[in-house]
Amino acid sequence: MTSITIAAPDDWHVHLRDDHMLTAVAPFTANAFRYALVMPNLVPPITSTAMAEGYRARILAAAGPDARADFTPLMGLYLNDDLVIEDLMAGVAAGIVIAVKYYPAGATTNSEAGGASLIGYQGVLEAMAEAGIPLLVHAESTDPDIDIFDREAAFLDTELAPACDAVPGLTVTVEHLSTRAGLDFVAGRDGVGGSITPHHLTCDRSDVLANGLRPDLYCKPVINSRDERMALASAAMSGNPSFFIGTDSAPHPLSHKETGRAKPGIFNAPYALEVIAELFYENDALGQLEAFLSLNGPAHYGLAAAESTITLRREEPAEAPPEIVTIGDGVDVRIFGAEAAGCWTVS
Ligand code: DOR
Ligand code: ZN
Repeated sequence: MTSITIAAPDDWHVHLRDDHMLTAVAPFTANAFRYALVMPNLVPPITSTAMAEGYRARILAAAGPDARADFTPLMGLYLNDDLVIEDLMAGVAAGIVIAVKYYPAGATTNSEAGGASLIGYQGVLEAMAEAGIPLLVHAESTDPDIDIFDREAAFLDTELAPACDAVPGLTVTVEHLSTRAGLDFVAGRDGVGGSITPHHLTCDRSDVLANGLRPDLYCKPVINSRDERMALASAAMSGNPSFFIGTDSAPHPLSHKETGRAKPGIFNAPYALEVIAELFYENDALGQLEAFLSLNGPAHYGLAAAESTITLRREEPAEAPPEIVTIGDGVDVRIFGAEAAGCWTVS
């Protein structure tokens, strides 16, 4: 049996939603992770400290009886014209807000209230750089003339590079990296880190498209080619401190996934650690697991790694655990990664 003990992991990018969905999904994150950097793309979006404080209280109330003792939601504000710099500064000073998230309007779920141009927020970005507040970026062009598989690279070239050049001291996270262009952008710039999801690490577009269309694997940015996936996996397993886990766990009811126009988003929080452990195990890279799950992320955000630990044990593959969670009223959500989860126990 293989067993590894590491500092408790953090999730640097997660969607917990609200109401019944929050109640159903928050325990999975709270049981597995110390910190959870919670995305603000609710409807309406979380654009103020007061909204973030209320949302954080609802998350803690939903965390459930088995939540880790050190589980802590970290809140981001949604960048648009409603964000007020003084309110952001007050939220950070009060320890309620830790980051600001930029969505290009129309790029993904609940991004309609996002921005038309990142550099249009230069004043906010300068204030953030001065105060050391990180910018989290959904790096995906919405230009209809650009192929969907090239939109990460396009956004980095046309939007994020100019913003980083104009505001040099800004700490930036390129979220859910999906291409080599994204990896190169992060590796080439000081103060820029990149989160990588379990699904972009383990799936490529043939998994989505080759054997019957898989709406459960539809997310934004879209899962890209095999070559891109292998580069992402190499980066994650390299120990390079610029790369760290962000699950982008994003639950949607099955009825919104298996329908005419599937919503983008993959719910992976229940088995995210097992999926990543299995990837590292298969590649003889368990020695770098702690860096990716537990050390690189906190270092990027200027925080200490967890003092608590978890132990992951690989057992003989057992029956895979459930692939569906029911959140009430006949509403089901599909869980990513059940097969890998059958090979591991986490304690
Ligand atoms: O696939 C995605 N789903 N990507 C995102 O950026 C947002 C997320 C969601 O909120 O469902
Ligand atoms: Zn996301």
